[in-house]
Amino acid sequence: MQPPCQTLKPLLRAEDRREPMGGLKTCQSGRLESLDARSYDKSMAGIAAGRPPLQIGSFQPPTRVFLAPMAGFTDLPFRRLVRECGGCGLATTDLLNCRSVLAGHPTALRLAETNDADSPVGMQLYGNDTDPLPEAADWAVGRGIDVLDINMGCPVDKVCKKNGGSLLLCDPERTVRLVERILAAVRGRVPVTAKLRLGWDDDHLTGPRLAQMLESVGVAAIAIHGRTTEMKFRGQVRLEGIGRVVEAVRDIPVLGNGDIESPQDAEHMMRTTGCDGVMLARAATRQPWLLSRIHQLLEHGEDPGELDHHGILRVILRHVELCREHCEERRSLHVLRSRISRYARSLGHVKPLKEAFRLAEHTDEMLVAINEWLERPAPRRRDLQSQSLACLSRP
Ligand SMILES: Cc1cc2nc3c(=O)[nH]c(=O)nc-3n(C[C@H](O)[C@H](O)[C@H](O)COP(=O)(O)O)c2cc1C
Repeated sequence: MQPPCQTLKPLLRAEDRREPMGGLKTCQSGRLESLDARSYDKSMAGIAAGRPPLQIGSFQPPTRVFLAPMAGFTDLPFRRLVRECGGCGLATTDLLNCRSVLAGHPTALRLAETNDADSPVGMQLYGNDTDPLPEAADWAVGRGIDVLDINMGCPVDKVCKKNGGSLLLCDPERTVRLVERILAAVRGRVPVTAKLRLGWDDDHLTGPRLAQMLESVGVAAIAIHGRTTEMKFRGQVRLEGIGRVVEAVRDIPVLGNGDIESPQDAEHMMRTTGCDGVMLARAATRQPWLLSRIHQLLEHGEDPGELDHHGILRVILRHVELCREHCEERRSLHVLRSRISRYARSLGHVKPLKEAFRLAEHTDEMLVAINEWLERPAPRRRDLQSQSLACLSRP
């Protein structure tokens, strides 16, 4: 039976509004004290409560909320930041070109970098059946990853022109033969997963059939972005398409992906499509703490609400610290200048803070600027809440 397709974004009702959360605290180590530490009324249950935990082959993720791979965003500092905010079941690297990693290309190696604090971690590879994907898979397993993911959804020309990414959706038989070779190279050391779109276009909705075939050869989970390649990021995510992939597979988990901007969106996707977990990308770049809110709603039936002003500032502060720990100064400056506007959407009127980031010639200046803002009294709660609600409804 087809799951009913409902509108993705439930309108935020007045009674859905909650008091802002108390804010993230920073431990002595500088690490953020996870929002998940909050205690919950045990009688409350979310949509995922009582379900068996997610099982991806031999790997059991701690939650069913995943950070999606995002080229240019999901580097080591950002993955660590999201983990520290809480709720993250798995975070995956940017997509990595299989030839570049094997050639030891410095950028590819930087993107593949991980450490003990970055756990559990997935690594995503792309390529086609003439590429050394099996060899790169073997290399990736040697880096201590928990999951190996194959990109079958990237719509970018640079990737598709080389027959990787979304183009793998077009010929499921050929793709499955490639995946069999990858599985043989991995030899069961880590689970292999695939991230798909619904198909190339409306006339070629191969996603469900491909998912079924991938399961039959041993792929351990499917992440499905509910759009076709032709749609790129336009239009609304199609929940009925995600539901078809859920129906197509027998036993492996399916993670629904696309347009999740609030805990209520995530719950709605799970309820409507029957998917086992969710994966989010763009919204996490604006609100790295969103995974924690989603996790709390799915498990405990309660959304702790938007983070307060000082909590958001502490997240930004931590992002600066993590960039400084892992990146050279020039790169940190570049990344943080580009991210501040995303964070600022949740902060209200912080033009001087954005200016300070834009003009900073050293990350020390960024730290000083945030600490100055942390010393100011937080804006009135009503202003903050209307700002955060505006945030939730943004595309
Ligand atoms: C800037 C950007 C980079 C992305 N890079 C990747 C990638 O490297 N690998 C991948 O599988 N998907 C990539 N995606 C797709 C996302 O993982 C995700 O499927 C898509 O953005 C829909 O989810 P969202 O609505 O939560 O953003 C990227 C998306 C964006 C916006």
